[in-house]
Formats: sequence, structure tokens, C-alpha cells
Amino acid sequence: MKKPTYYITTPIYYSSGNFHLGHCYTTVICDALARFKRMDGYDVFYLTGTDEHGQKVQQKAEAAGVTPKQYVDKLHDQIVRLWKTLNISYDKFIRTTDGYHEETVSKIYEKLLASGDLYKSSYEGWYCTPCESFWTESQLVDGKCPDCGREVSLQKEESYFFRLSKYQDRLIEFYEQNPDFISPKSRMNEMINNFIKPGLKDLCVSRTTFDWGVKLPFDSKHVAYVWIDALANYISALGYLQEDHSLFDKFWPADLHLVGKEIVRFHTIIWPALLMALDLPLPKKVYGHGWLLFGNDKMSKSKGNVVDPFVLADLYGADVLRYFLLREIPFGSDGNYTNEALLNRTNADLVNDLGNLVSRTTAMVAQYFGGTIPRHGEYCELDRELISLCEGTLAKVRADMDNLSAPDALCDVFRIVQRANKYIDETAPWTLNKNGDKQRLATVLYVLCECIRFAATLLIPFVPTTAERIFDKIGLPLPRDFKGLAHFGGIGDGVTVTKGDNLFNRIDVAKELWKLDKMAEEQNAQNDAPQTEQAEQAEQITIDDFAKVKLVTAKVLSCEKVAKSDKLLLFKLQAGEEVRQVVSGIAQYYTPEYMIGKTVVLVSNLKPAKIRGVESNGMILCASDGKKVVFVSPEAEIGSGKEVR
Ligand code: MSP
Repeated sequence: MKKPTYYITTPIYYSSGNFHLGHCYTTVICDALARFKRMDGYDVFYLTGTDEHGQKVQQKAEAAGVTPKQYVDKLHDQIVRLWKTLNISYDKFIRTTDGYHEETVSKIYEKLLASGDLYKSSYEGWYCTPCESFWTESQLVDGKCPDCGREVSLQKEESYFFRLSKYQDRLIEFYEQNPDFISPKSRMNEMINNFIKPGLKDLCVSRTTFDWGVKLPFDSKHVAYVWIDALANYISALGYLQEDHSLFDKFWPADLHLVGKEIVRFHTIIWPALLMALDLPLPKKVYGHGWLLFGNDKMSKSKGNVVDPFVLADLYGADVLRYFLLREIPFGSDGNYTNEALLNRTNADLVNDLGNLVSRTTAMVAQYFGGTIPRHGEYCELDRELISLCEGTLAKVRADMDNLSAPDALCDVFRIVQRANKYIDETAPWTLNKNGDKQRLATVLYVLCECIRFAATLLIPFVPTTAERIFDKIGLPLPRDFKGLAHFGGIGDGVTVTKGDNLFNRIDVAKELWKLDKMAEEQNAQNDAPQTEQAEQAEQITIDDFAKVKLVTAKVLSCEKVAKSDKLLLFKLQAGEEVRQVVSGIAQYYTPEYMIGKTVVLVSNLKPAKIRGVESNGMILCASDGKKVVFVSPEAEIGSGKEVR
């Protein structure tokens, strides 16, 4: 029989670096859902990726002295490593710089233009030149740029607009006919009252003030608005408007876009309107989850605590983090992160409840039955209570997952674990052994092993590595689906357990908190350290490493500002016989006039790079104290093209 399909997506992550535990939240939940659905008989497609275009990326790359592509490549590698660390089982990873995606975005713009849903006009707003951003009157703070506080001027930019206003009534109608489309319900009201009711305006969907984006095929001065570019990933990844669109035919419309609450607006207004304009079916559900808070703020890196998922996963294991994120935060609401909550949750559920049940049971099977799980005898009333709990749990967990509540699902699974631990105390197997009641002892241990099998099977989607270790310990192969949960009694004859290491070791919370605080202090001190100190701590290099860098003196022949950039200067430099073109990010510190005739030090064997579309062949050496930047120059006249050693 053909399996039903299930298409689930995370937002594509900004390639702006420094991923913290909050970033892992959407992805871990999606992963648990995808794994659950796969085991529950669905043909699942789980998509994630990176959002790599836009002005911010371009600016950060400029500041780092690399091309935007070099910049996003590095962050892409970092995020792929993070998802590997956390055992994320995505089926596809899309990058918005992938060729097929860019082509699809171009085609989408062409389609919109052809249907009349895209038109050219001009965008008027308050422009902040240093930030290269337009603001509306109401966004200004004291009449100044809300980002940097500097003067703004009223400017016009030629732009393409998407006829969003045309879809207002159709959107309301769609929400009414599909009351579960926006979940939780509160977010639906927020969208209607705050955005739709005040009236939708046409959306400016192209920019000309930067070029790191998808160029519009019919007007290459314009790049696609990052949100249209980004949202299109959900269909371009499946092959929409591409030669091979079999995945699109199979999986679209998406069953679930899981997103953080701050981006629900883009997914429930712009995205459905765009799909309507393209005449495509709409996704079945957009769920806006809450935030992982850190001292009541949305988690951010600078709050002085160890929230780096790489560090935490290294210290405690990926499953501890996965379990915490899935269990602790009430789904749909915000939840607080503290190191203490993480450690206490781990001790209470994973060490005490789960770890103890598995270690006590396997130890008793080893001690009383030489390691082989015994056959059960007749079940009594008490056993039947556990049997029916086990047999009823899959249906409950399925309902919880359909409600997208991982905390409820885990509570239901842990009910088996907790009940089984209590059963050990109630049946007191050690007394049965002392009294020579082998028959009853066998039944009790069989019931316990079955409880472990049920719980561990249901835990696979949430804590996959731990579940696998439990199956190793109880000597059973790892199940691929939930079929084995139809009936209690799945463990056959001759299965041998291995006690081995503890699943989790008890954490000394006070000691560990102290350690984490110390690590955070060190991390903060490093962040605050002046640059020179950081340089001193940096890895040492050999003279041969240094010899690889070719430094020469160069004379500035000409210097001008790079169009539409307030940071970049374009230089023509005489370096001995050679004339070099170099782009340098020092426009805020020097005027072009001042630079002409100066002698600078040039890194002459740097790979050529395009910065803002302008080729740069080398780099001008500068010193910086973090606030101002000064270029480096020989102390006396020495001519150009001279080696600097
Ligand atoms: N690039 C956009 C999405 C485009 S989708 C077409 C974006 N990226 S993001 O990197 O800022 O966010 C990715 C996901 O991480 C979002 O779902 C966001 O809500 C989530 N989180 C980032 N910080 C978070 C917390 N502190 N807590 C929970 N999730 C948060 O938005």
C-alpha cells in the first residue's frame, strides 16, 4: 500500500553566525516530528537550509574582508556541523545560493510579472545612508534612524511591487475555511487584527541598493526581496518550475511549516498570497512556536551563560539537549532557559527515571536469570495495569504529536517509565528471589523488559541515540516503526541483556553550575578582551607561515568611493612595475583626496575577490583599536613595490 506523505519544514536559517541553543529549538522539534511520522508509516520529506542573501550578509562580508559567498560558505559549514551534532535527520538541505533555487526565484518573478501581480513603481521612505535602509515615518526614533541614531533623508527608490492588497479578501476567506491553518489560535487573531484588518498594502519586492541576491531576469539592476527569495525555498527545494518536479508533485502542499512566532506574519500573509498568485495550493498548517528565553529576553549570545549548543552537547551529549528542548518548553509558549533547569531536568527524568529503570532491570535479569530475559507466567491484575498502559500509549503520543506537543508526548512516554519504576518497588523482585518464587520473578522481569521496549521504541524520535543504546542493552534490534507496539509480549525467547555503562550519570548540579559559570566568565572575558590580548593568545605560526604572506609597499595613484557604499574605497595602487586595483573598507576613516599620493602596505598575494561586484586584488594593511582604523605606512620614503618583512 502507498504510504501517505508528510512534508515538514523549518525556516531556513540566516547565515549570520553564532548559533545558540535558541536556534536549535525549531529544528529539534521538526526532527522529532519527522522521525515520529516516519516510524508511524508516513513517507516524510523534512527540509531545512540556510538563508544566504541580503544586505546584512553583504555588509558583514565586507566588514570581514571576504566575498559574501566566502562568508556564507563558512556559516553554512558551521550549521551543517551543528545539525550533525544534534542528530538532525533532514531529507534535504537547501541554500538560497544554490543555482536551482536562484533559477526558480527568477522564474517566479517572471510569472508574477506576466500575470500582472508584479509592477514597477517607486518606493518612498526615510533613508539612512550608513545603514542603507529605508524606514517609514513611524519607525524613526526622534526623527533619526532607529538602528544607528543618525540623520535620515527622504528618498525614492525604484522598486517592483507585489500586489499583496489584491489578496486581502481571499486570505480572510481562506483563514475562515481553514481555522487550523495558523496555530496556535492566538496567532491567527494577532495576524487578522494587527495586519489584515488595518489593510494590506502592496509589497516592495525588489531592491537596488545592494546586489547580493537573485537578480531579476528582466531588470538586473534589481535583486529579489530576501523574504520572497527565502519563502520560495519551500517549493524550489521540491523542483517547482524545474525539469524534475517529481518531489513537488508528490509532496506539495506542505503539511507543516514550523516557525518561530516572530516570522508567522511572513508565513501566513505574504507566503499564502504569493502561492495564490502562482495558482498553487496552500500549506496545510503554519505553527508559530514560542521562544527560548534567557532571563526573559529572547536568547542572545551576550547574556553571560554557556548557551553554545556545541559546548553543551560536548559536555552532556546531544540527547540531553534534545530532551530538554522538547520536554521543558510548553509548546506554543515561551520557555526559560537556565543551566540549572537543564541539569535538574536531566537528573530527574533521564538519570533517575529512565536510567534507573534500565539499569535496575538489566541488573536483575543478569543476577537472577544469567542475563537471559525469562518467559512470563500468568499475568495478575497489577501486570495488566502496566500492559494496558503500554498498549494505550502510542495512540496518546500520536495525538500529542498531531497537536504538535512534544512535552505532552514525552510525559506520556515517561508515564510508562515512572509506572514501571513504581512496579519494581511494589513487586520487590529481591524478595521474590529470596523466597524462591522464580515463576513470579520471571513474570515481573518480563513485564519490566516489555515496558522498557515500549518506552524505548516511543523515545526513538526524541532521543535517538539513547533509544538505540537501550535496545543494545536489552538485546533487541532497533525497531524501524511502531508495529511492534500493537501488543504487549513482543520479546521472544532467548534474548540476552547487557548491563554495561549507565545510560546517564548523575550530575552534581552545584559543581556543574559552578563549572558552567566559570566557562561563561572566561567566554565573556575573551569577548571583552582588547584585540591585542586576543592576538597574543592566538595560535602561533612559524616563520614559514609568515613567509607565505607577500607584503609590499604601494603608492596610491587614485582613490574614489565605491558607488552605493559608505564603507568602501576603490584604489589604484602602484606596486613597483605593477598597477593594482584594490577595494578597502576604510571610507569612514579617510577621504579619497587624503589617500592620493600616500604609501601603504599591500598584501599582494591575496586571492582576488569581488566586493560589491568590484574586483579587488589585494588588501591594504590597517591597524584598529576597535573604534578607529588607521592605515600602515613606512616610516620614511622608500618607493613602491618594496618588500615588507
Ligand atoms: N531566515 C529567516 C527565516 C526564513 S524562512 C523562509 C529566519 N532565520 S533565523 O535564523 O533568524 O531563525 C531561524 C529559526 O530559529 C526561526 O524559527 C526562529 O524563530 C528560531 N529561533 C531563533 N532564536 C530563537 C529562540 N531564542 N528561541 C526559539 N527559537 C528561536 O528567521
